[in-house]
Amino acid sequence: MEITTLLKEDHREVENLIAQLEGGADKDTFTKLKSSLELHTQIEEEIYYPALEGLDETDELVTDAYQEHDEVDELLEEMSGTDVGSEEFQDLLQQLKDSINHHVKEEENELFPKSEEVLGAEKLEHMGDEMEKMKTKSSKATS
Ligand SMILES: [Fe+2]
Repeated sequence: MEITTLLKEDHREVENLIAQLEGGADKDTFTKLKSSLELHTQIEEEIYYPALEGLDETDELVTDAYQEHDEVDELLEEMSGTDVGSEEFQDLLQQLKDSINHHVKEEENELFPKSEEVLGAEKLEHMGDEMEKMKTKSSKATS
């Protein structure tokens, strides 16, 4: 499967977990969200973005995406040090949600379609295989 399809699946999963936390936060769901976002970031930065850096069509979008990842990392750190039941946690969750929504829109509306054009389906399929390998490895490491 193309990496863009798999990354979209990740986005839906993250959105679901955020919605669950909005309805009532618990530690397990937050832990799930945190690890799934960390793996998503790692996959994008190791497999997907490097191929799109330095290209006229995508370089700026990738630079933005790196910044957004830093923002998300910082928020997750802050949330880890906050009581999940607190108002502060919900405030941070809203900031995280805004940041994720922006990331998702920019990728799904701009970066993904552009990468189809500049990289082509075959390359994206290959990256999708790499991504699946990385996910399998990480789920074995954590279970
Ligand atoms: Fe993403």
